Amino acid sequence: MKPDLSERALVLAPHGRDAFVACGMLRESGLLCEISASIEELVALISAGAGFALITEEALETSDLQPLAGWISEQPGWSDFPFILLTRRGGGLERNPAANRYLEMLGNVTFLERPFHPTTLISLAEAALRGRRRQYDARARLDELHQLTSVLEQRVEERTAAHEIAVAQLHEAQKLETLGQLTGGVAHDFNNLLTPITGALDLLQRKYPEIDARGARLIANALQAADRATLLVQRLLGFARRQSLQSRAVDLAELLGGMRDLISSSVGGSVEIHIRRDPDLPPAMADPNQLELAILNLCVNARDAMPNGGALTVVAEQVAIGPRSEPRLSPGVYIRLSVIDDGIGMDADTLARAVEPFFSTKETGRGTGLGLSMVHGLAGQLGGAFALTSEPGEGTRADLYLPVAEDGVAAAADEPRAPLRALGRALTVLLIDDEEIVRIATAEMIRDLGHEVIEASGGAEALGKLAAGLRIDAVITDYKMPRMNGAQLARRLQTLRPNVPILLITGYTGTTDDILGLPRLAKPFGQGDMAAALAALVEPDNVVRLPSRRSAN
Ligand SMILES: Nc1ncnc2c1ncn2[C@@H]1O[C@H](COP(=O)(O)OP(=O)(O)OP(=O)(O)O)[C@@H](O)[C@H]1O
Ligand SMILES: [Mg+2]
Repeated sequence: MKPDLSERALVLAPHGRDAFVACGMLRESGLLCEISASIEELVALISAGAGFALITEEALETSDLQPLAGWISEQPGWSDFPFILLTRRGGGLERNPAANRYLEMLGNVTFLERPFHPTTLISLAEAALRGRRRQYDARARLDELHQLTSVLEQRVEERTAAHEIAVAQLHEAQKLETLGQLTGGVAHDFNNLLTPITGALDLLQRKYPEIDARGARLIANALQAADRATLLVQRLLGFARRQSLQSRAVDLAELLGGMRDLISSSVGGSVEIHIRRDPDLPPAMADPNQLELAILNLCVNARDAMPNGGALTVVAEQVAIGPRSEPRLSPGVYIRLSVIDDGIGMDADTLARAVEPFFSTKETGRGTGLGLSMVHGLAGQLGGAFALTSEPGEGTRADLYLPVAEDGVAAAADEPRAPLRALGRALTVLLIDDEEIVRIATAEMIRDLGHEVIEASGGAEALGKLAAGLRIDAVITDYKMPRMNGAQLARRLQTLRPNVPILLITGYTGTTDDILGLPRLAKPFGQGDMAAALAALVEPDNVVRLPSRRSAN
C-alpha cells in the first residue's frame, strides 16, 4: 500500500455538488482527497488504501451496501476503517432509525449533521486520520512481531536440530563407552586366561620338539589358535582403551616410509599408493607398534573397498584444532594421519555403525568388525581422536588425530635379536599374581628357564616373605590385584629392597601414570618374551632379546 494513498480521504456524495464542496474543504486544509462515483468504486479505492471516507446518508440510501459491508467485516485485525457520515438536518441518531443501522454496519463512524461549519469537518477529518495512523502503527508492530516470531521459530528450529544432533552424538559416544567397558572387562579376563594357555603351549613346543608328528601338529595348531585369540583380545582391549601402550615420540614420516612395502603388499597390485608427509612434521606421541597396526587396518579396509583397484592415499600433516573444531579435542596442534580411498564408500547407516565392535559388512569369516574399533580406541587412549567421512560411491576418508610429542623423537632403540640364551646365572625370582592358574603357568615358564621361583598370591604375602628374610634377585608382579596393586607393591618394595629390579606383568595399564618407569611385560607372553624381559631386568647393559614367537607372525 503506497503511503500517499493510505492517507487520502475518499468522498462518496453522488448528489449535487456536495462531493466537490467537501473535497475542496479537505484539500484546503492540506489533505489528499478523491471522489468516488459509487459504492463499488469506493470499496475498490478503500482496498487500494485510504485514511478515511466521507459519505452522505443519501449515498447509502440509494445503493446496494453489500460490497461495503463485506469489505468492512473482512478487514484485517489491525484495521477499523474510519467513516464520517453526513446526515440531513435533524438526522440525529435518536430521530433517525436508519442511522442506527449505519452505525452498526460502518462500525467506526462519526455522524456530522448538515449544514456544518468547515472547521468542524476538518477537525473530524483530522481525528479520523489520526485514528487511522494509529492503526497503521499497530499494523507495523504486528508485522515486526510477526517477523520476530518467525525468526524466533527459525531459531527454535535450529536450536532444536542442533540439540538433537548433540543428543545423538552423546548417545553414540555413551553407547561406545558402555560397549567399551563391557568388552574391556571380558577381554581383560580372556587375556588373563590366555596367559597360561599360551605359556603352557609354548613350553610344550620348546620342551618336546621331538614329540611325535601328530602331537607337534596339534600343539602348533593350538598355538596358532591361541595367537589368533590373542590378536582378537588385543583389538578388543584396544577398543576398550585398555591396551598396554608403550608411547613415545614417533617420527611419522619415518614410520610411514618404513611401512610402504608392507602397505603395498597388503593392498595388492591393483591399488595405486600415494604417501604424502609434511616435511616439517613434529613427532607424534604414540605407541609405534599399535600405530602401525592401526594404519594397516585402515589400509586393508581401503583395499576391501576397492575390489577393482583404485587409489589409496596416506597423508600425515599438522593441523590446528580450535575450541569449535571437529573433532572435539582440547585445542592445540595435532598430527592428522589420513587414509583416503576412492572405493565403494559407506551409506549413512554403515558409517554410523562402522566403529562399533563386531560391526562388519564383510562375509562371515572375512571381517571381525574390530579393525576400526581398535583404531578408535587407540586414538582415544593416546589423547587424540578418530573420524570417518564417507559417501556411497565416493570413497572413504579416515582421520586419525594424534597429539604432538613434547620432547623430540627418542632414538629408536635398536633391538638386537639373538637366540634364547640362559642368563649367566640362576636367579631367585619372587613372583606375585593373585590368579593361581596364571601364576602357576608363569612360574613354570620361569623355572624352565633355569631360575628358582618363590610364589606369592598377593602383595601382603610377598612383603611378609621379604620381612622374614627371603633373599631374591628379582620381582615379577601382576598389576591388577585386589587390595594392593602391582604399582603400590612396587613402591613398597623399592623402599624395602631398593636394589632388587621389578618387572610388571600387565593386561592393561588402567591409569598409566603410576607404573610409568617400571619395565613391563604385556599379557599374554611366551617363554621367549619372559626370557628377554628377565635378561633386560637383571643385565640391562647386556640386553639379550629373543625374537618373540608372536613377532614372527
Ligand atoms: N574404507 C572403507 N570403505 C568402505 N567401507 C568401510 C571402510 N572401512 C570400513 N568400512 C565399513 O566398516 C565396517 C567395519 O570396519 P572394521 O575395520 O571395523 O571391520 P571389518 O573390516 O569388517 O573387519 P576386520 O577389520 O576385522 O577385517 C566394514 O565392514 C565396512 O562395512
Ligand atoms: Mg577392517
